Amino acid sequence: MKRLAIFASGSGSNAQRIAEYFKDNQEVEISLILSNKKNAFVLERAKDLGISSMTFDRSMFYESDEIVAILKDKNIDLVVLAGFLWLIPSSLIAAFPDKIINIHPALLPSYGGKGMYGMKVHEAVIENEESVSGITIHFVNENYDEGKHIFQAGTELSKRETPETLAAKIHKLEHEHFPKVIERVLFPQ
Ligand code: GRF
Repeated sequence: MKRLAIFASGSGSNAQRIAEYFKDNQEVEISLILSNKKNAFVLERAKDLGISSMTFDRSMFYESDEIVAILKDKNIDLVVLAGFLWLIPSSLIAAFPDKIINIHPALLPSYGGKGMYGMKVHEAVIENEESVSGITIHFVNENYDEGKHIFQAGTELSKRETPETLAAKIHKLEHEHFPKVIERVLFPQ
């Protein structure tokens, strides 16, 4: 059995998609969904999906080893960041070496780093009149969006692209690819 923990700060559409993708897979379990926001919609989705969830604050995340202890206690094999906005503490990275992955809504290394998330990314891509954008799934290290790339997929921008239409295209790519990439990371050929 491979056990996943998913961290999310917001809506959680990727978390839901991942849970749905592995629903009938006897070898994979979404053991826990964690959020740094008590009112994050991902927690509603977790409840509807019947997945345990918990929230934490900065002191718990950065000044205690509680989260690492919980993940170890649950025998988590892979930590998935799906719209999680805080930097990962080195203690968590050390506890799960090459076992934490993140999805970013742009073709890194462009449009990444601190403060580049959500609509800000799409606005910057359009502002710079890029012809393509896309997603990057990567291993997580101590810096935002800098870990080794695992997967990228692109999409062309139309002449009249808006941040909203681009966000929709990017979400579609995420939902299509993230679960499959997670499966490949869990079960390398
Ligand atoms: C996604 O666009 C992802 O690339 C980024 O945060 C967003 C999360 O969306 N890291 P959702 O909460 O999964 O709907």
